[in-house]
Amino acid sequence: MALFEVKNLTKKFGALAAVKDVSFEVEKGTIVGLIGPNGAGKTTLFNCAAGLFKPTAGAIFMEGREITDWPSWKIARMGVARTFQVVRPLKEMTVLENILVGAYMRTANPAEALEIAIRCMDVCFLTPNMNKRAGGLTIGNKKRLEVARALATGPKLMMLDESVAGLTSTEVKEMVNVILRLREEGITILMVEHIMEAIMPIADKIVVLNGGEKLIEAEPKVVANDPEVIRAYLGEKYSRRLQEESASKEEEDDGRHA
Ligand SMILES: Nc1ncnc2c1ncn2[C@@H]1O[C@H](COP(=O)(O)OP(=O)(O)OP(=O)(O)O)[C@@H](O)[C@H]1O
Ligand SMILES: [Mg+2]
Repeated sequence: MALFEVKNLTKKFGALAAVKDVSFEVEKGTIVGLIGPNGAGKTTLFNCAAGLFKPTAGAIFMEGREITDWPSWKIARMGVARTFQVVRPLKEMTVLENILVGAYMRTANPAEALEIAIRCMDVCFLTPNMNKRAGGLTIGNKKRLEVARALATGPKLMMLDESVAGLTSTEVKEMVNVILRLREEGITILMVEHIMEAIMPIADKIVVLNGGEKLIEAEPKVVANDPEVIRAYLGEKYSRRLQEESASKEEEDDGRHA
């Protein structure tokens, strides 16, 4: 049984079908990427899964239980956490206090909450900034704070919406490391991302949405070479670069084996 499943999900806003009959599964312990052009329906799908939007049709399952139409607090209690495309920390509170807010969703015991918060702060490389006001952080730290807050709630599934958008390449690498650490902790990841460098190397599977519909679902290599995906989203430039990169990597590997 998959940890999370979306089955024939449709979400309409008036006449516009933002998500059309989309189905896919997320296996426990994997990283699944959700990609596609602007307006493809990625955030809408997230909002349906997290209980912010009521789907028009279809169903959502978590650990085999149908959670469609559940309120967001109940979905969160099932172990689904999400971050938002636009970060929204509690600006006047410190980094540690922000993460504590997440930890208190899991426990009412202050000592326990503090222990959880400190660990999440460490996983997300935020310890050196623990006493800083969240509003004054760099965007890279803010994005990782968003992840730390979600992590503190103790999720089984973490949904990340564009967690590296607007980051420098160093900050992107830091975030990718955080995501890999989450997986090491046994957390399953469903992430929306436009920065291919952040998702293609770490995803077990990629789901491509286009105009609300699922275009393809496959491992990153297959997706990156799919003519329809290249036409609709990735563009020739990315696909060529990827081929060059993998060719030079193979050469390197050959060199090492020689
Ligand atoms: N609350 C809403 N009311 C009406 N239309 C909406 C609403 N939210 C999203 N839409 C529309 O649904 C479509 C899908 O939007 P969505 O935000 O899910 O796309 P996305 O794939 O997340 O895009 P991006 O990559 O730009 O974040 C768009 O046409 C958008 O305008
Ligand atoms: Mg979006």
